Parts: sequence; structure tokens; C-alpha cells
Amino acid sequence: MAEYLPEPFRIKIVEPIRLLDHEARENALREAGYNVFALKAEDVFVDMLTDSGTGAMSQFQWAAMMTGDESYAGARSYFRLAEAVNDIFGFKYWLPTHQGRAAEGILSTLLVKEGNYVPNNMHFDTTDANIRSRGGRPTNLVIDEAYDPDNLHPFKGNMDIEKLTAFIEEIGVENIPFGMMTVTNNAGGGQPVSMENMRAVADVYKSYKIPFFIDAARYAENAYFVKMREPGYEDKSPTEITRELFALADGMTMSAKKDAIVNIGGLLCMNDDELFQNARNELIMREGFPTYGGLAGRDLDAMAVGLREGLDEDYLKSRLGQTAYLNERLIEAGVPVIQPAGGHAVYIDAGALLPHIPHAEFPDQALAVELYREGGIRGVELGSVMFSYEDPDTGEMVYPDLELVRLAIPRRTYTQSHLDYIVKTVKKIVERADEIGGYKFTYAPKFLKHFTARFEPL
Ligand code: F0G
Repeated sequence: MAEYLPEPFRIKIVEPIRLLDHEARENALREAGYNVFALKAEDVFVDMLTDSGTGAMSQFQWAAMMTGDESYAGARSYFRLAEAVNDIFGFKYWLPTHQGRAAEGILSTLLVKEGNYVPNNMHFDTTDANIRSRGGRPTNLVIDEAYDPDNLHPFKGNMDIEKLTAFIEEIGVENIPFGMMTVTNNAGGGQPVSMENMRAVADVYKSYKIPFFIDAARYAENAYFVKMREPGYEDKSPTEITRELFALADGMTMSAKKDAIVNIGGLLCMNDDELFQNARNELIMREGFPTYGGLAGRDLDAMAVGLREGLDEDYLKSRLGQTAYLNERLIEAGVPVIQPAGGHAVYIDAGALLPHIPHAEFPDQALAVELYREGGIRGVELGSVMFSYEDPDTGEMVYPDLELVRLAIPRRTYTQSHLDYIVKTVKKIVERADEIGGYKFTYAPKFLKHFTARFEPL
């Protein structure tokens, strides 16, 4: 896809960015302990750290914010959001949260007990940590194709149904408080899940009476992939596909900072009466009253509009086109990336680019540092820093199969020339790849290490 639909919007407000010189970037890296999370955002030129909360809101969202009702209870904003949430996702109950991990935290607190397992195609780090910190064991059962960066399977986010069934039989339903699916599969390359696979997963969970929750952060991108790739869905709208998908589940957790194109917000939805009552009580303790859930009224209004804008077909065509464009330019430049392109991000295979650096010396971290050093670009490592953990049975470190650096594209924010600049920068890194060395921790917390760890070059 050399060309894609030009952005179906034009720019009305701009935010200046600047490229620091090489020496200043080197200093910034040193001060940040070689962790790009510790950089000052103003020292970053093109920020692809995340697509979470970094999108540009539309004039309609900004206008809706002015109508925000800041009443503590029963605000108009709540009812406007309720209309959108009920119309799109269709669960019996819903609660606003301040972001996705708050919804995951409430669900895990209520359902996960010491020694429980929670299957998923792949857990994102916050669901992983929320389950693990309550003594649970998050388990990834995605199809094997997901671990092969060159495999062109159209739905690499799919669950391996045989693995799932065997897993449930082995662990026993009594040890599985709920099962999940993440759409799109962020930890595995932003890859979509097919409707067919989703139905099969729902059938398995249902047959074992395991409640089924969707991690719904990128519901709209998944729906558009289904439309483009799954026979029978060509003529359905992303909204229709989304409704069909969520009708298969018993609930969902959602970060609204992605496909709902807001800077802050999340949702927790479910059909079960008792779970809802308990979740509402948890919410009141941690987030706020159930009609605002840790958000301002204006945030609820921005989300109500954004949930629908995220499903606009022209927007999705341009959005996924941008990601595919960056992926293809990088492939042309000889950069190993996950194929096919995912929805929200491009994933560089740092393990393949820097094969001389072992897992324990963090090849993905090394590449993340080089992107900033070479061009002021900030990506994020999704590999051994984020996903390695100590096996509770053996005490040994377990490393992930893939060492990735993700360049996440904020929604409606950067243009094609930013993408071309990234390609040019990565090309220069590829040319000197064999001179790049690994890193070691000088500090690392037990959970969610990547956010606050500090490093030293080896
Ligand atoms: N689930 C998925 C699939 C996610 O990608 C994220 C966040 C969350 C849950 C948690 O949501 O941030 O609102 O609490 N992902 C961001 C990212 C941080 O950069 O991919 P949150």
C-alpha cells in the first residue's frame, strides 16, 4: 500500500516540536538512565512512545467538552456517554473509569485469587500486572503464527482454540475466574482477531461457564480489519461489526485513550448483576461516584463523541493506511518488522536487527535508545524489559519470544513526512547495527519495570 487515503481532516491547531542537536540528545539519554520514559517530552522530536491518550481530538469533541456537566451525581455528560456505550457495546451494565488499567484493577480485585489463571490471546502489561499482583497467573494462548514476524496470517491476534481447551482441561475451570481476548493484540504486534475466532473462543468459555471479558482498547481498528479481511463482512460497517463482536462476551475492560480518541478515560462493562454491584462499590472507593468514575464531566462528553468518531470508515481507512505505509517503507529499507502491519503501530524486530545482543542484555532497549540518539524519535520496547519475569516455581527468569520496539502512531497527529523521517533515521541505525551494544539494569521494580527502570550501557 504505497498510497493511502489522505487524512480526512485538516489541521486547525498546531503544537510546535523541535529536534535537539546530537550532544543534547546524548545528555538527555544519560540523565534519563537510558530509559526513554524518563525523557522530557519537549526533548523528543517525533513521539511514537504510545498511541494512548496522545491523539488529536476533533472540533466536535472540543465543542462537546464545553457542554460538560460537572455535577457530582447524575450529570448530563454521564447520560450522553451512556447512550454511546450502550449503542456500541450493548452490555447490561457499564462504569466509567479514569483509564483502562483501573477497570482491570477492579475486575482483578473482585475475581482473581491466589493461584488462579487467566487465559488471553496475549495480555497487555497492565492486565498482566493486575492479575499477577493479586497472585494470579496471566496466560497467553495466541496462535503460533503470532510469534513468527514474517508470517502473513491475516488474523495473527487469534486465540489457539486447541491450546485454550487443553489449558482449561489441565488447570480446571475452578481455577479460572474469567477468560479474556485482547483486540487488537497489542503485545503481539497490534494484530487483529477474526470474528470466526472470537465466536470459537466465546463458545469454549461458555461451554465451561467461564465469564468472557474483552480487553477492548482498539475495538474500532479490529472491526475495520475484519471488514477488510474476513469474508462476509465486506458490506458491514465498523459499528455493526463492533456490536456483533461484543455481543459474544460477558463484559469488557477498555482504555478509551486509544480508539475513543480521548486523552483520558476508560470503561468497565458487564452483564452479571452481582459482579456489577461489587464493581460499583470498588469504583466508589477507588475512582469515584459511578456517574463520573474518576473523570471530569467534560471527559465523559469527549469520550461519547470519540467512541463514534473512532468508528468512522474514512478515518479508519486513513489510519490503518498510515500504519501500513510506515511498515512497507521500513521493509523496503531492509528493516525487520512484524508483518503484516498491525493497526496502531509498527513493531521493529530488535532481536533480528541486533542478533548479537542476548535477551538478558535487552536488544529492544538498545534499539529504543538508538532511535532517540539518532533522530530524537521515541518508541517503546516491548520485550525483555517489559515482559520478562521470575518464574514463581523455578525462580528463573523467563524471557519473551520476541524482542520488539514499537513505534505507535498517535491518532490524527503526525503526517507522512514524519513517517518518512522515521524511515530515514532507522536506515542509519541499520547501517551500524553491529556496533550497538546491550544494557543492564541499575534499578528495576518488581512489576511494570519498563516505566521506571534505569540502565547502564554494557
Ligand atoms: N489494554 C491494552 C491492550 C492496552 O494497550 C492498554 C494500554 C491497556 C489495556 C491499559 O490502558 O493505559 O488506559 O490504563 N496501552 C498503552 C500502550 C499504555 O502504550 O499501549 P490504560
